[in-house]
Parts: sequence; C-alpha cells; structure tokens
Amino acid sequence: MVSRGVMKPMSEIRPEILKRRAKRALAETAVADTVLERLAEAATLAPSCFNKQPWRLLFVTDSRARAAVRNALAGGNYWAERAPVYVVVLTHPDFDCRLDEDRDYALFDTGLAVGNLLLQATHEGLIAHPVAGFHAAKLKQELGIPRWYIAITVLVLGYPGSPAGLTEEHRKLENAPRTRVPMESVVLFNRWETNDNCGGGPKTE
Ligand SMILES: Cc1cc2nc3c(=O)[nH]c(=O)nc-3n(C[C@H](O)[C@H](O)[C@H](O)COP(=O)(O)O)c2cc1C
Repeated sequence: MVSRGVMKPMSEIRPEILKRRAKRALAETAVADTVLERLAEAATLAPSCFNKQPWRLLFVTDSRARAAVRNALAGGNYWAERAPVYVVVLTHPDFDCRLDEDRDYALFDTGLAVGNLLLQATHEGLIAHPVAGFHAAKLKQELGIPRWYIAITVLVLGYPGSPAGLTEEHRKLENAPRTRVPMESVVLFNRWETNDNCGGGPKTE
C-alpha cells in the first residue's frame, strides 16, 4: 500500500509544526485513500529502538467500524462523532526495546510515529486530533483487537468544518492561543535544576 516518498528539506517542516492544532470543528467530507497512504507512510518512517517499529495503526473508515469507535468515545469527545476517519493507535511493550531504568520504548516510539502522522496530516490540510477519552476495552472488543494490546490513542481525522455543533467552550478553544508551560520549566541547558519531584527513583534498581 505504501510507497516511500522523497524527503523534503527541514525548513519546510516548521509551518506544519506551528499550524498543527487539536481542533474539533470537523467536516464529514471523506479523506481519499491516497492521503491515508501518505499518513501511514509518514508514521511508519519514524525512528524506533533497534528499528523494532512497535506501532500498529488501525485505519477506521467504513461505517460499521466508525460506529464502533463512536460507541467507545467518552461523552466529552462528542465532537469526534462527525469524523470520516479514525486511526486507532496500538502497541505492546514486548514489541520494542525494554532496557534498564524503566526504559520501555514501545510507547515512546509509537509516539514518534504519531508525531510524524500528525505533521503529515497538517500538511494535507487535515485536522488530526489525538484523544485518550475513550473506553479502551470496549473499543478493542468492538473492533476485534485482542485485549493485550495497548490502545494508547485514537486519532480523529477530518477536514476543517463548521464549529456550529460545538459547545461554547470548545468553540472558543478553536482559535485560542496555544497554552504551554514556560520553556525554561521543560528545557534546560548544561545543568539539571528544576523543581520536578516525582517522589522517588525509577521502579527498577
Ligand atoms: C495523548 C493525548 C490525548 C488527548 N486526549 C484528548 C481528548 O480525549 N479530548 C480532547 O478534546 N483532546 C484531547 N487531546 C488534545 C489536547 O488537549 C491538546 O493537544 C492540547 O490541549 C494542546 O493543544 P494543541 O494540540 O492544539 O497544541 C489529547 C492529546 C493527546 C496528545
């Protein structure tokens, strides 16, 4: 299904990084298979530990499967019901490197793949909104996915649409400025000086 494309220079990436937002006003317009193939390609070209490629992506496009995803969404994600496509993102720790000091790479590497997919989706003019608000056991059961997979997120995909069906709060968020913690709280140089305290060291000794 996927043909690996020619990579673009890095300077062309920044606009997508700035433009990508987790918006909620979606159109019901279908997304072409060729576009979905480019999203799959972007995801699967992500780096991974020992090239283990732990991500599993279930593209949900037909009406029966979409209804199954809709049934599993949390109430607060009502806006996602309009989406023409969902991507269920799955993995398992055994699919990837498991190293000392709690370094399990499956979720990390799957996140890298999702990051690529989000940027490619933005480039295609799509909204790609990851959600954690869904009933994972129900979702897996309805889609025939074995229980032992971790369904880490569902990506809600669609072209931008009308905000008419959104709550007042969500309508305001559509064009609100991004909120981020101050850069100096999360990015440091040369010496580790933060107030982070997670109450202990790694689980493994
Ligand atoms: C793993 C993950 C889970 C999320 N779950 C939800 C969700 O269930 N519902 C929702 O409306 N947004 C969800 N979001 C979107 C975030 O709220 C959003 O990315 C964040 O507020 C930053 O905004 P931005 O993506 O527009 O920069 C989720 C994002 C991620 C990465």
